Amino acid sequence: MTKAKKTVRKSPIRAAITGVCGYVPPDVLSNAELAKMVDTSDEWITERTGIKERRILKGKGLGTSHMGAEAVRGLLSKTKTAPAEIELLICATTTPDFVFPSTANLICDMCGIRSIGSFDVQAACSGFVYALTIASQFIETGKYRKIVVVGADKMSAIIDYTDRATCVLFGDGAGAVLLEPSRKYGIIDTLICSDGAGMPHLHQKAGGSRMPPTAETVTKRLHYVHQEGAAVYKFAVARMAEVAGELMKRNNLSSADVDWLVPHQANRRIIEATAERMKLDPKQVMITIHKYGNTTAATIPLCLWDYESMLKEGDRLILAAFGGGFTWGGAYLTWAYNPQ
Ligand code: ACO
Repeated sequence: MTKAKKTVRKSPIRAAITGVCGYVPPDVLSNAELAKMVDTSDEWITERTGIKERRILKGKGLGTSHMGAEAVRGLLSKTKTAPAEIELLICATTTPDFVFPSTANLICDMCGIRSIGSFDVQAACSGFVYALTIASQFIETGKYRKIVVVGADKMSAIIDYTDRATCVLFGDGAGAVLLEPSRKYGIIDTLICSDGAGMPHLHQKAGGSRMPPTAETVTKRLHYVHQEGAAVYKFAVARMAEVAGELMKRNNLSSADVDWLVPHQANRRIIEATAERMKLDPKQVMITIHKYGNTTAATIPLCLWDYESMLKEGDRLILAAFGGGFTWGGAYLTWAYNPQ
């Protein structure tokens, strides 16, 4: 009699984050300085948003790619990865250096990464979650083994520093992660969503194909972020909690199973409301908003960079983001390494 063959089922290949690095420009714009520029106060900004200061990229000719390249160079160096090993680079940004070529193309060139696929993803503040979702598919199918995902934005390029309702909120920065295949850890689930009916509440009126730039659009200050804060706030509170809840539900996670919430940093009150709904202790919630403000696609990788030394192999993370579009999304992943 022949013995029945025992089939050993392999765990699926997942895309694991195996390194993270960030970059914020050295120039700090504090609430006190903003209070000299517009009718606001440190007290109002701190109470309504949790922001104390933000970084601003200064220097002629420096765009989003400068910060993205700084983050990627740091990532390659700390993970001991040669530029030639990278097989794909995706950059999430809403403030590309140019309409074309893509900022991802520029970052590759600046980092000595040649002849690979690279492209930008635009989903406003949800951009990093969108880019991570796309990149993870290439790892899961086995097509690529080393992918860099960058989230980078120079929001100061599209912020009206005479508009107190928006100029206090945003800052500049970049973060990058390395994704590699793993059968033990990595991205288990992702969720990306959008609703284009949200456009009137958060957008930039001119500069695209619907309203190309003219002297008039510049005079009318139409190249800046237009935001109806209260409408966005309402949407954001609902969607952040919803996305985190949905990921927990479909992965059978209770709050005791979640080690960290990595939320998009738009407003401290939105983050706290999300954590409360998830029944998480505030200590499990990554917060960088006080020092960087809202850096759009960079907030989540900057959080991971900031908290990297506290993350342990096997930690379970929920990422959650929302932004202009409207867009929203999240990811559930297990962390792949211990602090060095
Ligand atoms: N300083 C002082 N007063 C201010 C300021 C300021 N910087 N900004 C607005 N105000 C005033 C308003 O003029 C208003 O005064 P009024 O009552 O006399 O008209 C009052 O404060 C209240 O304004 P609201 O907009 O209702 O204030 P709110 O409590 O909603 O807070 C905020 C405003 C912080 C913008 C909040 O609505 C918010 O965080 N919204 C969400 C923003 C967000 O998450 N954006 C994310 C997406 S970004 C992206 O995708 C690119």
